Amino acid sequence: MKYARIIGTGSALPERVVTNADLEKIVDTTDEWIRSRTGIQERHIAADGETTGDLAFLAAQRALEAAGVKASEIDLIVLGTTTPDIIFPSTACLIQHRLGANGCAAFDVNAACSGFVYALGVANSFIRSGQSKKVLVVGAETLTRMVDWTERETCVLFGDGAGAVVLEASDEPGILATRMHANGGFKDLLFNPVGVSKGFTDAPNHGVRIHMSGREVFKVAVKTLDSLVDETLQAAGMKESEIDWLIPHQANLRIIEATAKRLKLSMDRVIVTVDKHANTSAGSVPLALDYAVRSGKVQRGHNLLLEAFGGGFTWASALLRY
Ligand code: UT7
Repeated sequence: MKYARIIGTGSALPERVVTNADLEKIVDTTDEWIRSRTGIQERHIAADGETTGDLAFLAAQRALEAAGVKASEIDLIVLGTTTPDIIFPSTACLIQHRLGANGCAAFDVNAACSGFVYALGVANSFIRSGQSKKVLVVGAETLTRMVDWTERETCVLFGDGAGAVVLEASDEPGILATRMHANGGFKDLLFNPVGVSKGFTDAPNHGVRIHMSGREVFKVAVKTLDSLVDETLQAAGMKESEIDWLIPHQANLRIIEATAKRLKLSMDRVIVTVDKHANTSAGSVPLALDYAVRSGKVQRGHNLLLEAFGGGFTWASALLRY
């Protein structure tokens, strides 16, 4: 049986860092409130003109370099994003050309914050079925483009960034199980109300704005992630004690702690980047993974549980041997 194995990771963050203290100057909030409710201390914000594709391209270049793979060897690009550069071509096509990988299949996946883990699940299926040998999987966002900077409930939560992995077909174990779910019945708890088909409005930023019922999203996220990790362990035939690292979606430290508790994992076995990156949506899990690899925390042979939850609602996981 061929596995999809991660052979390189990369990530990219915009240069500009905005701290909680900076936000205190523009909305009625405090560093104390943001830290205690979310764990966030700062976030990176894209410069004017800097796009999701720019960050995705850099993250992809770094992942290819780490893997020792040329862009021309890639036979599929799957990119998770909710904030594509333009409506079409897809951001996957835009970075394909910049990387010099023209010819391979390339498409975007929109699963909000679960975008990267969905993309990883799709890529895994392509490799397992024998259709692809080397796949570039990216999660990239400039979510702050959708933020209303006058709304304290949401503007303190988000940041921009991208992460990427190169997967290769291998006889050695790599991805052991993936799970993907969605429930569109929750569409009104986390959404952006405008778009091409529905139309835009005269409101600031043409009505492009994140609407979130934070408390309700929080409750469903904790409950759903609990059952997701159980289901994923079962699918891989593994026990909690076999997990070396939890690499969760970085939306809120309290949600992350709840999932760690369910897994009976101490927090020193959990990769936390929400303090530095805030919620980068589809960028969050691959950014955390790349940080974990480059800092030497994650080593070859470790078992990693990746999970994410976001608008849709969507939720997804991957259990893999690194
Ligand atoms: O990534 C996709 C999935 N998204 C998530 O997982 C996010 C899930 N939700 C959350 O992370 C949390 O619900 C939030 C961080 C968004 C909010 O935390 P909370 O503990 O649920 O707070 P809350 O919404 O219940 O608000 C508590 C109070 C309210 O005031 P009252 O009604 O108690 O007087 C808010 O108006 O905090 C107030 N508040 C703020 N105060 C200072 C809301 N935002 C702020 C703020 N600064 N930025």
